[in-house]
Order: sequence, then structure tokens, then C-alpha cells
Amino acid sequence: MSTWIDVSALDAIPRRGARVVKTALGCVAVFRTAEDSVHALDNRCPHKGGPLAEGIVHGASVTCPLHNWVFSLETGLAQGADEGRVATYPARVEGGRVLLDAAFLRGRVAAE
Ligand code: FES
Repeated sequence: MSTWIDVSALDAIPRRGARVVKTALGCVAVFRTAEDSVHALDNRCPHKGGPLAEGIVHGASVTCPLHNWVFSLETGLAQGADEGRVATYPARVEGGRVLLDAAFLRGRVAAE
């Protein structure tokens, strides 16, 4: 069963930007696209640990600020010739608030 936890106001996240939210279960980078969809991913680039929340959001992708690898915000997969995957978590917007699925975050903490 999903337990959705409220982590932020949608308006606290800039369009085509991100915000790192600290939950009781760990930190997650929440991205907002130009179309106001939200995606939650680990903030750590699988290449060399770059802070993805400081990357550039374009379409449904983010470019890592360190070496410009591009990751899909929807699947977490590296795009183009690069290989790797960022963990993604279910996220949704309801009434102007961003909600994350606590069950998935718990799984993440257990895996670390
Ligand atoms: S650390 Fe992200 S591309 Fe190298």
C-alpha cells in the first residue's frame, strides 16, 4: 500500500529546476519540468556523484552539472552513449503540494 508523504509546495521548486528535500527517510532531489510535472530521483549522479539537483532540466531530462551526462527524469536512465541509472521514486502533485511514496523511500534506505 502506498503512503504518500507531503514534502514541499510545488511553488517552492522552480520550473526547470529542482530542490533537495530531506525526508525522515533520506534526501531526494525533486525536479519540476516546464510543464509542471514532478519527478523524484536520487541526488547523486551514478557517474561520479555529481549533485543532480544542480543540473539543468530540459524537457523530461536533467544534465548533470559535473560532466554533462543526461538522465531521463522518468526512468533515471542515462541517455545517449553513456550508461547508468539514477534511482527514481514515485512522486505526484495534489492541491499544489508535492507528495512522495514513503514505501519506496523506505526501500531506498534499506538498500543503502
Ligand atoms: S558526475 Fe555526473 S556526469 Fe560525471
